[in-house]
Amino acid sequence: MTERDASDFGQLWQQLTQHQRELAPVHLRSLFEQDPGRAQRYRLELDGLLLDYSKHRTDEQTWRLLQALARERDLPGWIERLFSGAPVNNTEHRPALHTALRADPQAQVTVGGEDVMPRIQAVRRRMALLVAAVRGGQWQGFGGEPIRHVVNIGIGGSDLGPAMVSQALAGHDRTGPTVHFVSNVDAHQLTAVLAGLPPTGTLFIVNSKSFTTLETHANAVAAREWLAAAGIPHVEAMRRHFLAVSANTQAAGEFGIPADNVLPMWDWVGGRYSLWSAIGLSIAMALGMDGFEALLAGARRMDAHFRHAPLTENMPVILGLLGVWYGDFFGAQTHAVLPYDQRLARLPAFLQQLDMESNGKRVARDGTPVPYQTGPIVWGEVGTNGQHAFFQLLHQGTHLVPADFIGCVRPDHGRRDQHRLLLGNLLAQTEALMRGQSAAEARARLAASGLAGEALEAQVGHRVFPGNQPSTTILLEALTPQTLGMLIALYEHKVFVQGVIWDINPFDQWGVELGKVMAKQLIGELAGEPPAAHDASTAQLLAWCRDGLAD
Ligand code: F6P
Repeated sequence: MTERDASDFGQLWQQLTQHQRELAPVHLRSLFEQDPGRAQRYRLELDGLLLDYSKHRTDEQTWRLLQALARERDLPGWIERLFSGAPVNNTEHRPALHTALRADPQAQVTVGGEDVMPRIQAVRRRMALLVAAVRGGQWQGFGGEPIRHVVNIGIGGSDLGPAMVSQALAGHDRTGPTVHFVSNVDAHQLTAVLAGLPPTGTLFIVNSKSFTTLETHANAVAAREWLAAAGIPHVEAMRRHFLAVSANTQAAGEFGIPADNVLPMWDWVGGRYSLWSAIGLSIAMALGMDGFEALLAGARRMDAHFRHAPLTENMPVILGLLGVWYGDFFGAQTHAVLPYDQRLARLPAFLQQLDMESNGKRVARDGTPVPYQTGPIVWGEVGTNGQHAFFQLLHQGTHLVPADFIGCVRPDHGRRDQHRLLLGNLLAQTEALMRGQSAAEARARLAASGLAGEALEAQVGHRVFPGNQPSTTILLEALTPQTLGMLIALYEHKVFVQGVIWDINPFDQWGVELGKVMAKQLIGELAGEPPAAHDASTAQLLAWCRDGLAD
C-alpha cells in the first residue's frame, strides 16, 4: 500500500486548508451581522421540509471551494452511477440500489442486463397481500386467533430502520397489530417482549439479509421454542406464526419457514439501506400498505431532488460538504443528531449505523490508506432530554461539535402549549450555541441579578459562553410517512456524498467481520472447548466467565 499525504489530494484541499485558517477566528455572530441576507440565502425548502444551514462557519468562498471539490471528485457522475445501478460497491462488485426500491414503478433500472423493477413490484404485491391478510384478520394464528402482535426479529439494518420508522409513525395509524422489535442476542430483551404476548396471536417476522446472523438466529430459535412450549404444533407454528425476509431464502426454508412465507430481497440492497425493501414489512404491518407506499414516495421525492437539483441547492450535497468541512478542516471528531421530537427517539441510533458503518473507513476505494479524516462519530439524544444531560459540554466544553436539530412544527397531539415549549427550546438552543454570551453580556446579566464587585467578577468566567458552535436546523411541517421518507433519504444521500469526497466505499462493512470470527471462537470456549491462545487479559476474563457460568 502506498502512503499518501493530504496535500496529494489536490490544490482545492490546500485552498480549503488556507481558507479555514482565515475563517477560524471569525465568529458566527459577526457572519450574521456582516451579511443580512445570510439566513435567507442559506436555506432550502422541499415539500414541507425546511433546511436552515445558515448557522455554519462558512461564507461564500467556503461554498465556492466546497462545491468545486464536489465537482472535482465528480460527484454528479457518481450520483448518476448510484441511480443507474453501476457497481458503486466496488469491493463486493455490486450496485447499491435502495433508490430502485422506491423508484416510480414505470422506471427501468437494470442490473447485469436485467430490469429489476418487475421483481421489486412483484415482492411489493406479495407484501401488500400479507399486510392486508394480517391487518384484516384473515391471517390467523393457531386456533383461529387473529394476529394482534408482530415481533420483528433482526439486528442492525434489519432492525434499526423498521424500529425507528414504526416508532416515529406509531400515531399515524392505530388499526394494525402492535409491532415489537427484538434485536439483541441478550435474551433479556426477547424474554421481556414475549412476557406480555399471547403465542396464538403473535406473528414473528425474521428479518435477515444473510440469514446467518448469530443474534437473529438465536432469537428466532427461541421464538420457535416459545411457540412449541405454548403447545402449538411445529408445522402450524411455522405456517401461521413465522414470516421471513432474506436474500438467502434457502436458509430461511431450512429454518422451517414455508416458501410462501418467505419474501426475498437482493444482494444489491445494503442492510442499512434496506427498510425500503420487504425488510420494511413490519413497518407496513403497523402503518398499512398505504402508509408504507407514502414513506417510499417521500424518499422518491428526495431522490429526485438529489439527482436533479444543482449542487449549490442540493440538500444532501450541502449536508455532506458541511461534514467534510468540519471533520477535515476544523478537526471536529463527532456529529450530534438532536431530534426535538420523542417520536424520533431512535433516529440517532439509526443514523449511527447509516453513517458509521458506511463511512467509518480508513482506506480509499483502491485499498490504500486515506490521509484525512473520514466519517465522524455520530451520537445524539432527543430534545429536550439532552439539554439536561450533555448540552453543558456543547455550550462550554472544549470540543467543536456540529449538530443537527430536527423538529416537527405540527404535533400529532392536541397539546399546542406543550409543543410550543418544545419548539421554543429547539430554537433557543440553536441560537445560544451560535451566539454564545460574551463577558460583557455575562456581567450585565449578573449585575441585573443583584451581584456586584468582586463577587460578580468571580462569576464572569463561568458565565461566558463562547458560542460559535455550528448547527443545521431541519424542520418538518409535520411528521408524516412522506416527510419521514424524505428525511431518511436526505441522510442516506448525505452519507453517499461524503463517501464520494473521501473516495471510500460506503456500501461495504468489512470492519464488523473480525469480531464475529473471534466471538465464535470464544463462545465455544465458554461452552467448554479448550481455550485457544489469547492475550493475558482476555484469558483471565474468559476464565472468570467460565467459572461463573459453571456455578
Ligand atoms: O454486523 C453488520 C451487519 O452485517 C449489518 O450490516 C447488517 O445490517 C446486520 O449485520 C444484520 O445483517 P443481516 O440482515 O444479514 O442479519
